[in-house]
Amino acid sequence: MTGDRNKTRVLVLGSGGRECALAQKISQSAHLGGLFVAPGNAGSLQWAENVALDPMNFAQVKDFIIENGIDMLVVGPEDPLVSGIHDYFQADANFRDLAVIGPWKAGARLEGSKQFAKEFMQRAGIPTAAYSSFDATRLAEAKAFLDTMRPPYVLKADGLAAGKGVLIESDKAAAEAALEEMLVGHKFGKASDKVVIEQFLDGIELSVFVLIDGEHHLMLPAAKDYKKIGEGDTGLNTGGMGSVSPVPFAGKAFMDKVEERIVKPTVSQLRKEHIPYSGFLFIGLMNVDGEPYVVEYNVRMGDPETESVMPRIDSDMVDLLWAVHDRTLDKVELKVKPEAAACVMLVSGGYPGSYEKGHAVEGLHDVSEGTLLFHAGTEAGADGRTLTSGGRVLAVTTLAPTLPEALAKTYKEVEKIHFDKMYYRKDIGKDVCR
Ligand code: AMP
Ligand code: GLY
Repeated sequence: MTGDRNKTRVLVLGSGGRECALAQKISQSAHLGGLFVAPGNAGSLQWAENVALDPMNFAQVKDFIIENGIDMLVVGPEDPLVSGIHDYFQADANFRDLAVIGPWKAGARLEGSKQFAKEFMQRAGIPTAAYSSFDATRLAEAKAFLDTMRPPYVLKADGLAAGKGVLIESDKAAAEAALEEMLVGHKFGKASDKVVIEQFLDGIELSVFVLIDGEHHLMLPAAKDYKKIGEGDTGLNTGGMGSVSPVPFAGKAFMDKVEERIVKPTVSQLRKEHIPYSGFLFIGLMNVDGEPYVVEYNVRMGDPETESVMPRIDSDMVDLLWAVHDRTLDKVELKVKPEAAACVMLVSGGYPGSYEKGHAVEGLHDVSEGTLLFHAGTEAGADGRTLTSGGRVLAVTTLAPTLPEALAKTYKEVEKIHFDKMYYRKDIGKDVCR
């Protein structure tokens, strides 16, 4: 650690579009002394130095932090948090001054266990769908519980299942079969040893983001993501096909309800239960006739929401993150740009099923100034070309005075980019612009 906050040296862990967007925002800080992304991708090189570290290998991360005088560790994905990366550094007195952005293991359970999250919300009186949870010894009771519910039936693997652990079945026989597959057939491995069955919430979904320092919170811009592969929200679930921010249906009155009924009770319940928390909290919400209900907590930023949220933030991100470490979030005011952001994800044909890799991405230098290219799955080829290396390849974001303008602008830039079998949704944001 350098101890010089005017020259803060930051290490971001992760390799996706989210980490590129975090790096881009952090790179604009007036108080930056160095920026590294581990492992990063071909896109993070626009703003940071990539380092070949495994975010799950804490000892390796620690060595890098020591050797490179890192002051701030920003953890992008949930896995290292759920596995206790914050606790790992906290346990070592030499790292007391290291700002670790991301909750301790106890707080990460809000994402790591759906049952824990549901019980937590119940204790705090936070609005969420009615539920019950079951293990394999209670299969008959679980089936009987389905009888007490109206369709569609929502079944959730308790543990982390890479975003795939939620099944929504409209038919009871299919729900029973799925339940059996999860509990007895170990459909999601250990993650489905326990299953949460909950009431279906009929509404429109959005993603709310907050920074929490353990005592105070700061509301960040909200976003909406588009999870399905097909236009009109059809087909298989993906990691996210695009995002917009702000969310037109989440105006001040709605967001005030979110803050009063959900965010404040969450922070005070964490304190009450002595669960230390510092970092981002992502609250997946359903707007049911104007009333917010929590669908899930995630203990990190969303992807691809980060790609439309970060570009709208005007405040210095390093300053904000120090306020998280110092527990002084109540002293800072968030500055948000008046512009809207629209992000469209370019994916490999076949995704979320099997797809090809290694195709050259053309046109990256043809986009207009100000267009943000957050790479999700790319790698640098030997000849300097950028090659596809994943299902989600590239998030293209622009800002404009209004959301319809931002969407039009983003789609215009998207047309300049090409790779073999490239696919993207052409209806991102359409539903909320009507
Ligand atoms: P989760 O992993 O809990 O975010 O669930 C994945 C997706 O399933 C959510 O983003 C929602 O679209 C949907 N979902 C989860 N729970 C419910 C619910 N109770 N009612 C309706 N949709 C839900
Ligand atoms: N966009 C949803 C997520 O990051 O989990």
